[in-house]
Amino acid sequence: MILIVRILIVYDTKRGSTEKVATFMSNVLSKISDVEISKPSEKNIQFYDAVVILSPIYYEKPLNSIISFIHANREALSSVPVCLGAVCMAQMFGHTAKSYAYKHYLAKMEKALGREPECRGIITGFLFKQGSRTFQDATNLAKRFCKILKMDNVK
Ligand SMILES: Cc1cc2nc3c(=O)[nH]c(=O)nc-3n(C[C@H](O)[C@H](O)[C@H](O)COP(=O)(O)O)c2cc1C
Repeated sequence: MILIVRILIVYDTKRGSTEKVATFMSNVLSKISDVEISKPSEKNIQFYDAVVILSPIYYEKPLNSIISFIHANREALSSVPVCLGAVCMAQMFGHTAKSYAYKHYLAKMEKALGREPECRGIITGFLFKQGSRTFQDATNLAKRFCKILKMDNVK
């Protein structure tokens, strides 16, 4: 079992919903570890034991800032558990659209990472008013990541 002491959540946003997702995930993950939330920047990933990377989807793509961050840190990210999350709306249109989001949106983040992440998920975003699905999806993804980190002691 890896001792997870510090988790970094990296996100970017245009309209604020991915920032909310980062906060919701932090609330879960902080029950088992110190958590830092950051925009993509000069953060040294080597100081963290696990990393969550979140991007909203615009015109079928994750934000360039997030893809560049993954590329720039690819080597360091190869030695820590990584959770990738795409915040978008496609899944609101049913199962086929959700599979599409996994296949096309998350795949773009995975391609930059150069490997399969330990955990990944699609999170329902919003445009104007936050719905309950954003909270539920973010919380579920964080709990899944906790389990994968073999620390399923989160209530
Ligand atoms: C101009 C525009 C383009 C979008 N394109 C997509 C898209 O291609 N696929 C999708 O599932 N959602 C799309 N969305 C929905 C956003 O991904 C969703 O609102 C997300 O929560 C925005 O994240 P943010 O508030 O962190 O910027 C789009 C939204 C806007 C306003």
